[in-house]
Amino acid sequence: MSESTPSFAAGLEGVIACKTRLSHVDGEAGKLVFNGHNAITLAENNTIEEVWFLLREGRLPTAEEHSAFRARVETLGQLSPQEVRLVARLKGGEPLSAFRTAISAIAKNRNFKPWLNRDLKEVDNEVLALCSAAPAVVEVLRTGRKPIRKLRNAGYAERYLWGVTGKKPSADNLHAVETYLILTMDHGLNASTFASRVTASTGADVGAAITSGVGTLSGPLHGGAPGPVLDMFDAVGSVDNARPWADAQLAAGRRLMGFGHRIYRTDDPRSLCLKRVAEKQNGPRIELAKAVESQILAALADRQKARATTLNKPVRTLRVNVEFWTAVVLEHVGIPRELFSSTFCTSRIIGWGEHVREQIADNKLYRPLSQYTGSMPE
Ligand code: CMC
Repeated sequence: MSESTPSFAAGLEGVIACKTRLSHVDGEAGKLVFNGHNAITLAENNTIEEVWFLLREGRLPTAEEHSAFRARVETLGQLSPQEVRLVARLKGGEPLSAFRTAISAIAKNRNFKPWLNRDLKEVDNEVLALCSAAPAVVEVLRTGRKPIRKLRNAGYAERYLWGVTGKKPSADNLHAVETYLILTMDHGLNASTFASRVTASTGADVGAAITSGVGTLSGPLHGGAPGPVLDMFDAVGSVDNARPWADAQLAAGRRLMGFGHRIYRTDDPRSLCLKRVAEKQNGPRIELAKAVESQILAALADRQKARATTLNKPVRTLRVNVEFWTAVVLEHVGIPRELFSSTFCTSRIIGWGEHVREQIADNKLYRPLSQYTGSMPE
């Protein structure tokens, strides 16, 4: 290998692959920024539409802009009768696979074309309309029918929770879900956002770019963890069993869902925020969840200490990630566990859409190199 050959980084760890003004994850300090604003403060105090507007426009909206944008998202978020039939046919099976297929099918039905050499205003509308439709898509996939009638001016979060549970949410439940949906809306160049940007960088249609995001989010190392976190609570069963269960899992070489993160070297601020929400909810899981959190952290710390001794070098401290407290919060508001990943998608689709717009506005095809490890011809 010549000296000028770039070095290989497994998982692209430590590689900066794009510039973005949308969000910044400071893994050392445990801070998350959305376009110049503390994401946790936004999640606790703002609506999804306000934060979505911030990502689009680079500033928070005025009251008039907020209500106009909210109304636009509501209108664009409706599915045509033909689309309802199309999506309803996908009901059943694994919900996120159905969601992925539905997003792709809607984009095809709307005849989305590659964005290259097109009027970018039109492409922009396609992105906003596709992302706005996520709550209706999840509802139709769940019920197999057209979305139930909701009060006019219900926001994105309210339409989502209402559609999934079938009843108008209480103010507390709505606030909990809106907080979650804002917290997870964007997160630097995570795997699914990267996937969306890579697809967009080829000039492909924006439906293909968003579909790439859904497929990538579905894996348990990324967005597929919160359902298995509840399975973990069920498997642990009681506070006393938390540590023995964790030790047995680690001894068997298994990963514990809801722990560890590529970027955070301290507490994930989203997780701390959701823990506060869960404590306020004070549901039946809270005591077990707290015990499982502390016992698993202790088991992971012991394991990492032993590994550091064996390897004779420092190893990563593992903390709770966003998925752990997500599971507790979403279960409490009545979202079934099989829809946790779809709920994550309903939030992150907004981030994918904005990253796709950003990529398109200043595009460069992603085309990294690979390090050849095969043999050379004689
Ligand atoms: N349980 C047990 N061991 C772990 C865990 C865990 N949850 N996370 C990391 N480790 C160990 C891992 O086994 C590895 O040890 P070794 O070198 O002996 O193989 C070491 O810590 C470093 O792990 P890594 O896989 O190199 O770290 P990464 O930065 O590639 O992975 C992660 C980050 C999130 C994929 C990983 O921590 C994990 O698998 N967590 C469990 C799944 C999970 O909770 N996913 C949700 C992620 S947060 C939501 C999101 O942003 O998408």
